[in-house]
Amino acid sequence: SSSGKINIAIDGPAGAGKSTIARRVAGMLSYIYVDTGAMYRAATWYFQQLGIEPEDEEKVLQTVPNLVIELIPGEDGQRVSVNGQEATEEIRSLAVNAQVSRYAQIEGLRGRLVSLQRQMALRKGVVMDGRDIGTTVLPDAEVKVFMTASVEERARRRYKEMKERDQITLDQLIRDIDERDRLDREREISPLRQAEDAVLLDTTNMTPDEVAEAIVSMCRTYVRKR
Ligand code: DC
Repeated sequence: SSSGKINIAIDGPAGAGKSTIARRVAGMLSYIYVDTGAMYRAATWYFQQLGIEPEDEEKVLQTVPNLVIELIPGEDGQRVSVNGQEATEEIRSLAVNAQVSRYAQIEGLRGRLVSLQRQMALRKGVVMDGRDIGTTVLPDAEVKVFMTASVEERARRRYKEMKERDQITLDQLIRDIDERDRLDREREISPLRQAEDAVLLDTTNMTPDEVAEAIVSMCRTYVRKR
């Protein structure tokens, strides 16, 4: 693009460190960070508020056109609101964790969120993380990374950042994450999958600094070569 900016797609399973890294890379490049998982979480929270179950596709689809999700960069991270209601803390709850993969399987909801995500990336200079960014949302992203780590390491990372640690054990969390990955990989519409042109990064034994540095260096290499 004329701005010289590129788009960066970061995909991978739950707890691989995508959001920490994406935020950091965005900071290093002065790019905008878009957390697409937060959008699926926000939608989930909203449907739960309205008492609309994921099985009730008709009601979900009636509500989707009116869904307005905003990601607002703030002092201590990104704030999330749904139809004007602040939901930053609520979207990380166990209740949302437990159901988000089910709502994320609904084609009409994905269509709406994917189109919002593409709009956010039109002017380039975006670091977007999720499950289907390199494959579906931004297939033309200039740099694509598929980030993984062992399930034990991913559960440990999630556990550390959780507020409800007293309500769950690490073993339970490992099982939860495994189950969510399974649902994300096995769903019919844009499942979690490494794009053919994505670089695989196993972060199990890497520090966040090392991972962020590796991605920034891929971006510099890309820009130098074009
Ligand atoms: O990244 P996360 O764990 O906050 O994402 C929450 C859920 O949202 C995840 O289990 C699957 C779904 N999701 C998705 O289907 N597609 C995306 N691009 C991002 C998240």
